[in-house]
Amino acid sequence: MAFLTRGAETGRPQVAEVGLGLIPDHALEEVRNRADIVQIVSRYVTLKKSGPRHWGLCPFHSEKTASFHVHEDKQIFYCFGCQASGDVFAFRMRHDGLDFPDAARALARELGIPLPTSASAPSGHVAQLYQANDAALGYFRQSLRSPEGAQARRYLRARGVSDDLVDRFQIGYAPSSWEGLQRHLARKPQEFKLAEQAGLLVRRQTGDGYYDRFRGRIVFPIAEPSGHVVGFGGRALGEDETPKYLNSPESPIYRKGRVLFGLPLAIDAIRRKGRAVLVEGYFDLVALHRAGVEEGVAPCGTALTVEHAQRLRRYAKEVVLLFDGDEAGQHAAERALPILLAAGLRVRAAFLPTGEDPDTLIQRSGAAALRACLDAAEPLLDHLIERRLRGLPDHAWAVADAAHAIAPLLRAVRDPIEYETYVREIAKRLNVPPAALAKVLQGGSTDDPSSPATPAEPVGEIRLDPATRVLLGALASYPQLLPLLDSLPPDWLLAGDARELLERLTGAIRERGDRALAHLLSPSEQKLSEPLKSALSRIVAEAGDTDLRAAKRAMQDCVARLGIGALDRRTRELTARLESCKDPDELESLLQEKQRNLTERRELWSQVQHV
Ligand code: GTP
Ligand code: MN
Repeated sequence: MAFLTRGAETGRPQVAEVGLGLIPDHALEEVRNRADIVQIVSRYVTLKKSGPRHWGLCPFHSEKTASFHVHEDKQIFYCFGCQASGDVFAFRMRHDGLDFPDAARALARELGIPLPTSASAPSGHVAQLYQANDAALGYFRQSLRSPEGAQARRYLRARGVSDDLVDRFQIGYAPSSWEGLQRHLARKPQEFKLAEQAGLLVRRQTGDGYYDRFRGRIVFPIAEPSGHVVGFGGRALGEDETPKYLNSPESPIYRKGRVLFGLPLAIDAIRRKGRAVLVEGYFDLVALHRAGVEEGVAPCGTALTVEHAQRLRRYAKEVVLLFDGDEAGQHAAERALPILLAAGLRVRAAFLPTGEDPDTLIQRSGAAALRACLDAAEPLLDHLIERRLRGLPDHAWAVADAAHAIAPLLRAVRDPIEYETYVREIAKRLNVPPAALAKVLQGGSTDDPSSPATPAEPVGEIRLDPATRVLLGALASYPQLLPLLDSLPPDWLLAGDARELLERLTGAIRERGDRALAHLLSPSEQKLSEPLKSALSRIVAEAGDTDLRAAKRAMQDCVARLGIGALDRRTRELTARLESCKDPDELESLLQEKQRNLTERRELWSQVQHV
């Protein structure tokens, strides 16, 4: 995602990159201060107030009773059903499928917060590129309806694309003329330049001027959920023409590693069904819609990227791959798997009959066959593991090779329970102790250089003991309780995730007071990882609406328990040292410290609520 936040190391100001423009820190801050999450969520969700929380049906998964709520005081939302959580920016990102800068920009616009000119100039340029694409789309659409579009209309009809689908996908036709589009688009030099930057026109190598990039092709506009057309994909009409497909080149508004064809049409269905269906080509996607499957998307002539996967994860937990039944399709599915797993997605694959793609299948066998194929989709990881293990010789070398081959895929599994379960099952199949397999998995390095990089964040559960959860919940709810932590002994010891969460939270409270939580959970806050953010959201949601007195008591209780833990550790250490101590002076001071500890412990023990 294209944004930077203040790095503790560099002290660089926080700047969100938008297209070519930048949103400065102070503007973000103003959006944050003025946007009211209750008001903004209310535009999309009917909310009912109860205490400090407003409840409604979660817009991110389908449910019948409300488990989604917005906390007015804290300016955050959380869903007990699907664990969606965050601040007002996160809500807009997730709801509208925007990245952080676009969400920030949309909120700023709605709140009437002017963004400084340094940001609006480049965005003006971006807006012009969108306009050029819009104008081109108008031309392609009109050409398809005109007499010169007759052959293209026949082609579409022959491929089973109804007028209805032509309209739904805004399919157009680029006539086989070298200058049709440019005559339609541009008169002034800067208009030619712009159309060239948008990838619509190509500058002639020799002589002056430009020519149309798309000629004699069916054109599919590629749009973002914001409604902007960012590029085009063109299919040649003739079967032997090369290239068969021609896509827009990368531009300030078109990055092929990011766009997903059909996403704007699919978002609602993906959310409703809890899954996205991934196909390889433009016509495959049209075929899905013909079969009444609307949750489909396709990358635009490129392999699936991490960014694609992360975008899909915003809408659903599951992806079904519907790839060609040939070897290339199988390989594409295998390459996509670790990328999707690493984004936290569950992946199924539907294997089409050899030689078929979704489009040919529906042509030959009908919509029901395509749907049946989808419904039979199996978990892809299981499928690949099964293939690797089937008929495995019972020899150490073969077993080791199999374990190493599976490792890169397994390592990409994000959910700790899924991960552990796979490890246990596979260890059983390989007839080795789970610990041995775990060692292979922790090895990190892989023997297979072609295997994709494992995710940056280790697979790991956020494990927090109950006392820490209570502590974090109380402190997040009532930042004014921060001073209670002062009474903890210096080595009261929290480690790992617990420590990081508490340090971030106390740091944020010192810096932001009441606004700490919304800040910490914001997508613009990169110091806290996503799993930790969602752990914290959950703790806060589960802490519920405890009143201040109860929170204070709970926190004192936790602080005392943690303090006792620290004292006990120290006491054990002192006891050990006392046993081996020869020097009488040292002996004396150790004894005194032990005595002090025991007194202090009694003191703390009296503060613990004994229930
Ligand atoms: P149809 O023959 O029209 O059904 O296309 P297809 O989608 O079945 O073709 P194929 O499986 O060969 O390709 C899948 C996707 O890869 C296409 O939808 C394109 O996005 C992309 N692609 C295929 N051929 C080309 C090509 O020649 N150039 C580029 N840039 N992309 C291609
Ligand atoms: Mn095809």
